[in-house]
Amino acid sequence: MCRIFAGIIKEGDIAPILRIGLKRLEYGGYDSAGIATIYEGKIHVKKDKGKIDEIHQKLNLDELKGNIGIAHTRWATHGAPSKINAHPHLDCNGNIAIVHNGIIENFLELKQELEQLNHKFVSKTDTEVIAHLIEEYYKVFKNFKEAFIEAIKRLQGSYAISVISTYEPDKIFLAKNGAPLLLGKGKDFNFASSDAIAFIDKTKECIPLEDNEIAIISLEGYEIYKLGSGTKVNRKPIFLNWNLEQASKEGYDHYMLKEIMEQETSMRWSLNAQKIYLELISDYMDKADKVFLVGAGTSYHSCVVGSYYYSKLATVTTIPVIASEFIENYGSSIDINTTILFVSQSGETADVLNAVDFARKRACTILAICNVIGSTLTRVARAYVLQQSGPEIGVAATKTYTSQLIIHLLLALNLAKKRGKISQYEMDEIKEALNEIPFLAGKILREKSKEIKEVAKRIINKNHVFFLARGLNYGTALEGRLKLLEIAYIPSTAYPAGESKHGPISLIEEGVPIIFIAPKDETRKQIIGNMMEMKTRGAEIITLAEEDDEEIKSLSNIFIGMPKMNSIITPILYILPLQLLAYYSSVLKGLDPDKPRNLAKSVTVL
Ligand code: F6R
Repeated sequence: MCRIFAGIIKEGDIAPILRIGLKRLEYGGYDSAGIATIYEGKIHVKKDKGKIDEIHQKLNLDELKGNIGIAHTRWATHGAPSKINAHPHLDCNGNIAIVHNGIIENFLELKQELEQLNHKFVSKTDTEVIAHLIEEYYKVFKNFKEAFIEAIKRLQGSYAISVISTYEPDKIFLAKNGAPLLLGKGKDFNFASSDAIAFIDKTKECIPLEDNEIAIISLEGYEIYKLGSGTKVNRKPIFLNWNLEQASKEGYDHYMLKEIMEQETSMRWSLNAQKIYLELISDYMDKADKVFLVGAGTSYHSCVVGSYYYSKLATVTTIPVIASEFIENYGSSIDINTTILFVSQSGETADVLNAVDFARKRACTILAICNVIGSTLTRVARAYVLQQSGPEIGVAATKTYTSQLIIHLLLALNLAKKRGKISQYEMDEIKEALNEIPFLAGKILREKSKEIKEVAKRIINKNHVFFLARGLNYGTALEGRLKLLEIAYIPSTAYPAGESKHGPISLIEEGVPIIFIAPKDETRKQIIGNMMEMKTRGAEIITLAEEDDEEIKSLSNIFIGMPKMNSIITPILYILPLQLLAYYSSVLKGLDPDKPRNLAKSVTVL
């Protein structure tokens, strides 16, 4: 799991542009990084272990000369993070440099083959094998494009690859299979990257590559070919409406905080998601007997909440499934009559794409909620709706989660209308609630931050935190727990409150914090019962409940009062204080919430 960036410019040196772009890609991996350029007919490389700024401080990456180059930020899969394992990697003679995102599954057998031909390997990576393979084929073909294609054809696994070579010093060779790769087209330059955010300040004209395609970029433009047949592909650029400002920190200490705070805006965008696609997806869902909702991590949690929406509002049975379990659990029973709504912020999560691939082979109907236009998921789905969150840089999903919830709610409403399951009065009430969401989000975020910071101080030294809820907000408990666990490294458990007495209660003793999500809905009476059970056992009760709920207040050690709202929108708004709680807990512990250890923004390996 890494990110790559490559470019050629008419005038000046490419290295500073690559470094800045790479910095924006750091969310995809940050254990080592490097840049290679071609200058005066030779390849020059600077790379090291660590984050890009640290490496730049040490090596001055901008000093690299040359108008063409490739760059990489790494999240180790094969070979520990080290200078030697950092990309770019070279062939034996230093004429070919490569960066790669993905995993080459047959690299050991290729390596053995090449070692027998006297190739010398310096790293422990799977990537280096590609440089040597191209080198070997170049000896045969004496034509770099052909050598590149032949080498790529030998690879099994996933890859987004970018290569420069002294044999073709004015071209960048690219290949894609199972990992994202996009071209950025300009007048006096051309770029390629795992994510358009690397070049979005230079051009908004973007060309996504498909699996099993190769591309060549130069100052003259771009060419795309099918890997198998060699057929030339004619693909026009799409226009990206994100700007760089949207993708920078805008004065906040961390992307995560910025992204939490901008939810008033992102929610407004999501509420305006394209109606025709919402309509199309709900048409498919309407015709289905049952619908699977599939996602990983936070996106899966949105599916959990979604399943309550579809059932409560539209009486449609949906089954939320964790993407990595989908094939094992339902693979044998899905077929042409199965409809699956995949949810993925990035549209590139390997577990999700693996399930998509399987489902496509069974002729299932593939629908999607996604944030990234041009991502693999949006390209393979029968229909998709963009969640319109804007780019999310912080590794932890925050604004993209609330956007996904809004899309689920809009789809459920559409379905309810189609099926005649909702009265005009109910419809008007929910519409009113929807309109209030951005305003309420802004109010909660502005008014609750200080208070939440104090709560964070109370929990950061605890050994364990529980999150309990019922009904619609069970997903909120799951998501609040994931945020705290992954960002602040505080062991946490989330349960449906009713289930807590079937086991987890044995962990409760004096002072164990339990966060109850307890809005005024039909589950309130029961959840009060659960609070009492826990209180009598000495738990520290922290509640998120409506501000005038005196009964819950009297049971709580810490009470976080939320504004009055229609219970249907509570999952979208009650998660906000929990996102802040995770953020402040992380910062108070001296951690970097944007870069939790061992995690990457989009997990592109199985
Ligand atoms: C948690 C988080 C991850 C992602 C998961 C799926 O904060 O960000 O759990 O939600 O890796 O990613 P997408 O939605 O891109 O498929």
